[in-house]
This record gives sequence, structure tokens and C-alpha cells, in this order.
Amino acid sequence: MAQQILVTGGAGYIGSHVAVEVLNAGHDVVIVDNFVNSSHESIPAVEAATGKSVTFVEADVTDRAAMVSVLRDHNITAVIHMAALKAVGESVDQPLSYYANNIGGLVTLLDAMAEVGVYQFVFSSSATVYGDAKEVPIPESAPLSATNPYGQTKLMAEQILGDLAVSDDRWSILALRYFNPVGAHPSGTISEAPKGKPNNLMPSVMAAARGDLDQVMVFGDDYDTVDGTGVRDYIHVMDLASGHVAALESLSARAGFDAYNLGLGSGISVLELIAAASKASGIDIAYEIADRRPGDVAASVADPSRAKADLGWSAKLDIDRACQDTWRSQKR
Ligand SMILES: NC(=O)c1ccc[n+]([C@@H]2O[C@H](COP(=O)([O-])OP(=O)(O)OC[C@H]3O[C@@H](n4cnc5c(N)ncnc54)[C@H](O)[C@@H]3O)[C@@H](O)[C@H]2O)c1
Repeated sequence: MAQQILVTGGAGYIGSHVAVEVLNAGHDVVIVDNFVNSSHESIPAVEAATGKSVTFVEADVTDRAAMVSVLRDHNITAVIHMAALKAVGESVDQPLSYYANNIGGLVTLLDAMAEVGVYQFVFSSSATVYGDAKEVPIPESAPLSATNPYGQTKLMAEQILGDLAVSDDRWSILALRYFNPVGAHPSGTISEAPKGKPNNLMPSVMAAARGDLDQVMVFGDDYDTVDGTGVRDYIHVMDLASGHVAALESLSARAGFDAYNLGLGSGISVLELIAAASKASGIDIAYEIADRRPGDVAASVADPSRAKADLGWSAKLDIDRACQDTWRSQKR
């Protein structure tokens, strides 16, 4: 049955792809965003990719009155909450902004939802909640920890969501722990366009391929991995988006709080990613080896088997496809 879905942070990189897949699944989408890390262009791009219209409300999720109005005015039935600040280094320099935005925004939104009587919630969590995992691939049952304020906001958010679900059994809440999102919509019309300097590996690799960056910095080549560089589980953003639809559609048949890994279940190294991007772009991407970054782990790979068993979801697209789709979006 068609639902009215609120997607917060829906103008952002992952949110715009999630909006596309939720629309493609036949639901109506209301996007809330304050454009702190995105632009107005995302909204028509989502509409062009789907041929469907989106309702857009420019607002901040920390604004309780605005959230109550959005939920009420659009008869929202479920919320996918993706609005957050996400730069690890910035979170170390500006912890209060991160706690105010990511935790303040979450609590305000949940409070507004309870007032209006909306209890279905999907939350953008992250593999960062596993800290330096000892067991790889990482199951959801692995110990949780945080190594920086950004990670702390995801960990605290999951605790808040768990406590809330215990307090009132009307809540149905799923936290999705993303591994490393990459790729773009195959049309090339939607892409990752962060404001400022790229923080993640794929945007840096693409900036080097475009000639906007001289070379990619590779932090550490002495990890215990295939070639010494860090290994990550890169999940195509379209797979990630379909994982949100699977989570959304399971909400009404379940209750309480649970968390699922969204990953491919296999990892590649930094140098393997650079090679895949060089192949996709036809450009020999230059890189330089630098010291390890504090807080980085050798390998982070998902065990995605619970998401497959419970949500009927698994990732299908590999890194070559992700690099081809990203490069297509960059060329536009
Ligand atoms: N990209 C990753 O590597 C990754 C990995 C794991 C988890 N996540 C999480 O996924 C979510 C989406 O990440 P993304 O990569 O698309 O980031 P993004 O910055 O592209 O998107 C986040 C969006 O939220 C908006 N936003 C931020 N604070 C807001 C507020 N207070 N009110 C309204 N809008 C606000 C931003 O303008 C942006 O459009 C975030 O919660 C992030 O922490 C991302």
C-alpha cells in the first residue's frame, strides 16, 4: 500500500538515492533538508530520475514546530531519518555542533513524531559503531564503541532509539548500519556533491580523476591486509537505497528496535579501489602513501546475512559498477 514517507536529509548524497527508490516503490515522498551539505538541485534531479514529483520542505530537523507541521500536514506514516553532519575530523573540532545537530535533531524529530502519532522510523547508522572490530566480517552482535564524536552520535542515537522502543511498544524502529557507500544513480543525474574538501575516499579518487586534485592520499600501507592499505566494504548507493525500502516495508509487521548491517559482505583495499576507478575513467589516477590516520582500522567488512534473512535484502552491485556509475555522474 502506498505510504507517505518523510525523508530527512533527502537532498543529500544517500538521501536523494533513497528518495528515488522509495518513489519507485510506489510511495509518496516528502523531503526535509536545510542544505547545510547539499543543494537545491537534488530535488529536481530526484524527480527527473523517477518521473514523479516530490514534496520539499526547507527546514531544520532541530525545529520542533516545523517537524510537527510537516508530519501533520502531509499525513506522514513513516520517517527515514538521514539528516546529520558526517565529517569525522570536523566532529573532533566541533563536537557541540555534532551533538546539537545529530542528537538534538534526532530527539526533536522523535518527540514531534510521538506528538503526531507516527511511530515507524528508519535511522541512518554506520559501521563506525563497531569501532575497531576484532571479528571481520562484522556481525550486528559485535561489541559497539566509538572513536570520535561523529561515531559517538551514531552510538548514542542507537541507544536512544532502543530506550524509546522499550518505553512504548507502538514504536517500530530500524537502525541501518551502512558500510562504505559509493556509486551513483545509473542515469548520472544524481551524485555526491559535498560542500568543501572531499572527506571520503571515492570523492577524493574522483576529484583526482577529474584533475581537481593532484593525487589521492593513501593513509597507511602497512596494515595487515592484501596490499597493506585499508580494506573496506564498499556498497553501491542504489543497493543501500533498496535496503531502506526493504526496511521501510518491514516496519508495520514488527515492533521494537533492531539494527542491521547494510554491506556487500566483501571488502577491497584502497589501492584496489583506485585501480577500479582508473579502469572506469580510463585515467591513471595518481596516489601518494602517507602515514596512517589515527582512528582508522585495518579492515571493515559487513556480515550482511541478518538483513538477507529478515528483510529479504542483499547487495547486488560490485565496485566496478559503482566506479562506472560514479564516473558517469562526474562527467555530467
Ligand atoms: N556517506 C557515508 O559514508 C555514510 C556512512 C554511514 C552513515 N552515513 C549517514 O547517512 C546519512 C546521510 O549521509 P550522506 O552521505 O548522504 O550525507 P550528506 O551530507 O550528503 O546528507 C545529509 C543531508 O542532511 C542535511 N542535514 C544535515 N543536518 C540537517 C538538519 N539539522 N536539518 C535538515 N537537514 C540537515 C544536509 O544538508 C544533507 O543534505 C547521515 O546520517 C550519515 O551520518 C553516511
